[in-house]
Amino acid sequence: MVIFEPSILSADFARLGEQAQEVEVAGAKAIQIDVMDGVFVPNITFGTGVVKALRSLVRMQLDVHLMIVEPERYLQQFIDAGADRLIIHQEASTHLFRTLQIIKNAGIEAGITMNPGTSLSTIEEVLEIVDLVQIMTVNPGFGGQAFLYNQLKKIRRLKQKLDQLGLQIPIAVDGGIDVHTAPLVVDAGATVLIAGSSIFNQQKLIAENLKALQDSVNH
Ligand code: DX5
Repeated sequence: MVIFEPSILSADFARLGEQAQEVEVAGAKAIQIDVMDGVFVPNITFGTGVVKALRSLVRMQLDVHLMIVEPERYLQQFIDAGADRLIIHQEASTHLFRTLQIIKNAGIEAGITMNPGTSLSTIEEVLEIVDLVQIMTVNPGFGGQAFLYNQLKKIRRLKQKLDQLGLQIPIAVDGGIDVHTAPLVVDAGATVLIAGSSIFNQQKLIAENLKALQDSVNH
């Protein structure tokens, strides 16, 4: 089953709580909260305060995508704020295995992600302990960017690798997901599709956009 996970980076920050509730009413089971520190990526967004505020508003799973250097410095704060899954970048943590172990030992889910230019081989040693692998199909930092088609083969290779290892962990894809690219990444093996600007935009209502995305892969 394909799950669409709205990324609040493209939401109206002046109405974040309302839009998170709207997304929940529209049927989303999880949202992705894009935390950026202005160092790992050339943008600054929000921190534990937003996670805590949303935790009190919605029942959905809160996935926190940490686009920050040395994420190990803030794991406990995000866990305490209410994160259900922490997704860290391979490039951001010197002791990747230990950082993922800390997340797992705290009783929440651990996700690993990597930039488009980073090879799958860099996460091979942690596949057995993660709950999700997220492939970035844009350079992280901003919503509304163009989908990087060259990442499709990476998704396929990851799916093959997970099948070879007998690992049943979901592949998430993040960046440039819309009604045209969603079927492509699903065909390549992704089952969790993170979408920002194709859900939060001026063209249609959140519920309409979510339904269009779901329809694009239901055949
Ligand atoms: C980019 C973020 C993505 C982004 C997706 O750094 O990680 O989640 O918000 O936005 P769209 O769907 O607009 O590419």
